[in-house]
Amino acid sequence: MAVLPIIIAPDPRLKAVCEPVEQVNGEIVKLMNDLLKSMYAAPGVGLSAPQVGILKRVIVVDTARREEEPNPLAMANPEIVWVSEEVVDNEEGCLSFPEHYAEVTRPARVQIRYLDRGNAIREIEADGLLARCLLHEMDHLDGVLFVDHLSFLKRNMILRKLVKMKKLEEAVAI
Ligand code: NI
Repeated sequence: MAVLPIIIAPDPRLKAVCEPVEQVNGEIVKLMNDLLKSMYAAPGVGLSAPQVGILKRVIVVDTARREEEPNPLAMANPEIVWVSEEVVDNEEGCLSFPEHYAEVTRPARVQIRYLDRGNAIREIEADGLLARCLLHEMDHLDGVLFVDHLSFLKRNMILRKLVKMKKLEEAVAI
């Protein structure tokens, strides 16, 4: 397993629509393992393949609390089966937007169908942080970022700060 570098926004790879996985084979299982390792190293509660530059429909999440046993979930081709009409607002961040958080409105509960690491079709129902996290990661597969749920002004403010941060980092690297 490898810790992969996580792409920071803005970046065209984060706006791409990712390709479905044909079959969860050894290559995809390796990707799932690398994503999990990279997510834990960050640390974060979710990560998607496009965030490490691989434009495939693969995500991982683990919303277990620090004092709980790890509960990693790895999914290929996740699809929404159902979302609740009830929505909730909550603070959200993203590993591609370091140190930026904002309130995002999302469905309170979801039902999702996906392929597991054994290539079996599974369904999961989730609420709370897990539902939010799954919806956030699934958005990534369609090039939708959490800032896309915010107002134009707020989104541009965050993106401008990130561009500035990247320029500073490049300058330091020279
Ligand atoms: Ni994210």
